[in-house]
Amino acid sequence: MLELRGLHKSIGGAEILHGVDLTLRKGEVLAVLGPSGSGKTTLLRCLNFLERADSGSVALLGNQLDMRTASRREIAAYRKHTAFVFQNFNLFANKTALQNVTEGLIVARKMPKAEAEKNGLKALKRVGLADKADSYPSQLSGGQQQRVAIARAIAAGPDVILLDEPTSALDPELIGEVLRVIRQLAEDGMTMIIVTHEINFARSVATDILFMENGRALVQTDTKSFFERTDNQRVRAFLGSLNERMFITNDEHEEHEKHNENHSQNSRPAHGGGASHGMRHGVRGKRKKRRRS
Ligand SMILES: Nc1ncnc2c1ncn2[C@@H]1O[C@H](COP(=O)(O)OP(=O)(O)O)[C@@H](O)[C@H]1O
Ligand SMILES: [Mg+2]
Repeated sequence: MLELRGLHKSIGGAEILHGVDLTLRKGEVLAVLGPSGSGKTTLLRCLNFLERADSGSVALLGNQLDMRTASRREIAAYRKHTAFVFQNFNLFANKTALQNVTEGLIVARKMPKAEAEKNGLKALKRVGLADKADSYPSQLSGGQQQRVAIARAIAAGPDVILLDEPTSALDPELIGEVLRVIRQLAEDGMTMIIVTHEINFARSVATDILFMENGRALVQTDTKSFFERTDNQRVRAFLGSLNERMFITNDEHEEHEKHNENHSQNSRPAHGGGASHGMRHGVRGKRKKRRRS
């Protein structure tokens, strides 16, 4: 459904992206992994014309655009099919959750207010925030704010959602609720490109992985091959560095569990009660078993 070819982008005289290709099929979730500074955000921003590429072409649903010369009108038509979720939510502070979700529908899509509100409430319900429609961002947790941003993304019925590290601005205990919403979207068949450092999430939700390094897409392959069969040295080094971190995390987790079992019956619900914690550890647990088997 989306084909990107030969994306080049320089910023301030330095080339950031050196000809990136990617392919996305309908219903796929493509996770973009790679070290910080490798160009993941720039790639995603260029893909939604938030930055203008120096060269490259993108075909969405069979409609091909030259990324350097596409007109405003072509870009507006392209963006009717896409939605973007930012690292820092990008909500209007002076608008309620519902107003944040309906703003684009009313202004950009010229949708009647009543219809926009109906769609907006449906989207908020989908991210579990129907009861927060009238809350302002300052009255919501970071996790809730990002779920509002996801509701805004889905409200217009996009064909593909681009998410740039949607959980990296969140406190750890709020990450799970956002990942759960994204996982549900994936299960509902939403096509997505998600830049993330949540490696276990990528492993369990993504259909494909694109690995970026130094402005190049080094590898795009199916998720299983990426984690289990890649012979790319750079990918192996990247996964190796993550594994080290995960060993530590898992050991800490086991210590924590032991502590709970041995010392306190009351700490159980506190630990397991947060769905976010349950999920993150659940995924980690699975990963750990796989590695040892
Ligand atoms: N506005 C900018 N001005 C100068 N350099 C930039 C700008 N945006 C990004 N870069 C540089 O481009 C490279 C890729 O950045 P980015 O796309 O944000 O990477 P990632 O999202 O993978 O961390 C980095 O070296 C970064 O310093
Ligand atoms: Mg980034």
